[in-house]
Amino acid sequence: MAKSKILVTGAMGQVGSELVAALRKKHGVDDVIATDIREPENPEGPFEKLDVMDTERFEALVTKYKIDTIYNLAALLSATAEQKPELGWKLNMEGHFNALNLAKNKKVKKVFWPSSIAVFGPNTPKQNTPQKCIADPDTVYGISKLAGERWNAYYHEKYGVDVRSLRYPGLIGYKTLPGGGTTDYAVDIFHQAVKTGNYECFLKADTSLPMMFTEDAIRATIEITEAEESRIQVRDSYNLAALTFTPEELAAKIKSRIPDFEISYKPDFRQEIAKSWPSSIDDSAARQDWNWKHDYDIDKLVDTMLHNIKKMNA
Ligand code: SER
Repeated sequence: MAKSKILVTGAMGQVGSELVAALRKKHGVDDVIATDIREPENPEGPFEKLDVMDTERFEALVTKYKIDTIYNLAALLSATAEQKPELGWKLNMEGHFNALNLAKNKKVKKVFWPSSIAVFGPNTPKQNTPQKCIADPDTVYGISKLAGERWNAYYHEKYGVDVRSLRYPGLIGYKTLPGGGTTDYAVDIFHQAVKTGNYECFLKADTSLPMMFTEDAIRATIEITEAEESRIQVRDSYNLAALTFTPEELAAKIKSRIPDFEISYKPDFRQEIAKSWPSSIDDSAARQDWNWKHDYDIDKLVDTMLHNIKKMNA
């Protein structure tokens, strides 16, 4: 395999921080350039400040480091984008165009860009949501991700751009806190369970959503991006799945390990967002085309989260 020079945007985020660490382990610290608008206190390798909307700087960094692969993660998530619709649209779209255009102009070979279950909407089939079906998102975030997916397909078709994409489910990990998502309850609940023994959930007890442990999501991201080009048959974005559960079910799993744990419910505007998303996802295309397999089931996820968060709080 030819040596890769990789640039990751949004590297301080929930996915970015774990992805940078995994890529550095695989490709070497110096070949993975982390970028973000926030600066790390103790950078563990090359870091550059980058606002993905800054076209010139984006290109200058790609040239400076002779980048061939971009993982373009910088975005506003669903709940924040509802609060700041114009910024959500602008950041999610302009950043995406900048990366796609770098590939179109042959400055880089490959782009990975995350989409989301948020591309689906109220008229999408909720169970086992197919790869292709009605997608009528009614959130700013979902609209931006669906538009981005169509641009992926367009750039691939018209300009031969090698762009690869996954529709992430809710992501749960202990290393970095997520920021501004609707599925974030499923991370926060672990921290509160360990620290206070109580959690007030902003979704209703029976809100079933697709979820995944971050380690699985990072592996999927690297696997799809490094797969042989001929295996990538879906060019807008692949459905990707592992688990499905409700806050009530997750709370029961935590209670079986922390018997005094109590959950209460106070749904807010995020309930409306969650209500419009699928409960479970059919990801057979990803499993067939590039052999996707998840590793973490709910028990392994709960044990891993509690073990590590307890250690962090000890
Ligand atoms: N986890 C994301 C969110 O809740 C969805 O992609 O915004």
